[in-house]
Parts: sequence; structure tokens; C-alpha cells
Amino acid sequence: MAKRVRKAVLPVAGLGTRVLPGAKTTPKNMLNVFDRPILSYVIEEGRAAGIEHFVFIVSRGQGSIQDYFDNYPEVEQALEAKGKLDILEEVRRDLPQPGQMSFVRQMAPLGLGHAVWCARDLIGDEPFAVMLPDMLMMAEKAALKQAVEAYEQTGDNIVVVEPAPEGEAHKYGIVALDGQDGRLNRMTGMVEKPKPGTEPSNLFISGRYILNPEIFKILETQERGAGGEIQLTDGMFGLMKSQNFQALEYEGTTYDCGDKIGLLRANVAYALARPDFADAAREAIKALL
Ligand code: G1P
Repeated sequence: MAKRVRKAVLPVAGLGTRVLPGAKTTPKNMLNVFDRPILSYVIEEGRAAGIEHFVFIVSRGQGSIQDYFDNYPEVEQALEAKGKLDILEEVRRDLPQPGQMSFVRQMAPLGLGHAVWCARDLIGDEPFAVMLPDMLMMAEKAALKQAVEAYEQTGDNIVVVEPAPEGEAHKYGIVALDGQDGRLNRMTGMVEKPKPGTEPSNLFISGRYILNPEIFKILETQERGAGGEIQLTDGMFGLMKSQNFQALEYEGTTYDCGDKIGLLRANVAYALARPDFADAAREAIKALL
């Protein structure tokens, strides 16, 4: 039986160049989508998938992420004293139990593969999830839970994929499949940022993975690839020589918050999805159009 997936790695050290100047003093994954930071949604998704421990790969200047997931005594006391218990509950909603989050400094921006490798000691010898927090995945059943179930069903490494927008495949990691039948298909290859016209399919790696721990051994010596960075995609392709990979097209909608219009779309979509704000949000949007 496949081992339980208990831990998730969240690489958050990126510069956020596409969402500047907002990301100048606020880590990009701490930017708000409607009324809470992007990371709040990702943690919620992880918990819904049974994740018990989150390992953040951070860089200098990202201390606000740790502060967000800690108590906020002055404000909590003030809210309690004023009887504003609903706001208090919201302030506390994302807190972990002590010991359920770890923060590792990447120290140099060498690429996604290197960021994931930085988590090796904290993950140890068990399968784990990788969640790219730029990508918010809105789904009835949490996207990562769908991936965990695919892992439990097959015991294979799982990469969540979806069709790339027309003409944009070269911006992503792209997978090659051994035929397509339903949402879960065995992969035969993958390539990071293929040259336009050479993409093996239109399915891009969209930001949720379940990986076996053998990936760390490969990432340790992984050479630089696309963009001069140590790529997770290249590491996974290396692991594919000895292990199976399955591509999962999850059921739901992805919002790329690493880009200004994507972030705007996410704000609108998540406001409209909130039962307590949907009507007011719809009115406000209608009035603007
Ligand atoms: C990373 C991955 C890529 C994936 C993408 C999804 O690329 O390397 O395979 O498709 O995230 O957003 P990046 O966005 O860091 O260039």
C-alpha cells in the first residue's frame, strides 16, 4: 500500500517580478486575494488533502510569512476585549499547531529543483507534495486531494497538468503522455520551457506534485537547465528512468496569481465564491462594467 502523504513543500522564494511593485515589500504569495493572503488558500487546500506539515522554502526578507502563521497577541487581545469574535476567528483561521510548519532558507535563487532539494532533511524517506503557491486551484474537491488520491491508487509519482492557453506552452513545463484516456495518464516524458513548436503536448505542469523521496538524490547533482536554473522538471525526468509518473488533469479552475491579470481574476473569482460577499461583489463589479 502507498505510504501516506503527510508533508508538503511550498517554494515561495521567487522574486515576484511580474507582480511588482506590490511584491517589493510583501512576498508575492502574501499578496491578498480578496480578504486573505494567497498562502492562506494554499494551506487550506493542503489541509483538505491531509497535509500535516508544511515546509516553506523562503529567501531573505520573507519574515512576514512566519509572522502570518504565528499568534498576533496585541490584536487578538483587543478583538477579544471588544467582543469582535468573528474577526478574531478569521485572524486565527490559518494558525498551525506548534511544530507543524518549518521554514528553510534557499540562500541562493538557483531554481525550483534546488528549492525542493532544500527540504530533503525535513521530508526524509516518505512521499511528499509540492505546491507552487502562485497557482490557486479552486475546486470542489481540493486539487491536492485529487492528486493524493491518484497517488494512493497508483503508487506512482503524480504531476497535476492542464491544457496550456493557446501559444503559451513554451512558458511552462510540458508533459508527454502514453496515450490519453480519462484524467489520469502515464507520462513518457517532460520538458521545461520547450522551444515554441517543439512541445510534446499542450498539457502544462500546473503546480501540484506528489513525489517519491528518491527525487532528492537526483536533484543533488541535477545540472542547470532552462533559464540557467536547476529545474524540478529535469529532476523528475531523471527519476522517470526508474519510476512511473502519472499526469493528472484535476477537476477545477486554476488562477495564476504570479501575474497581474491572473491575480485580478483570482480576486474576482474568490470574492464571487464567498457566500457572505457574493451579492455585494457582483453589484460592485456590475457597476464598474
Ligand atoms: C515552474 C515550473 C514549471 C511549471 C510552472 C507552473 O515554472 O518549473 O514546470 O509549469 O512553474 O507555474 P516557473 O513558473 O517557475 O517558470
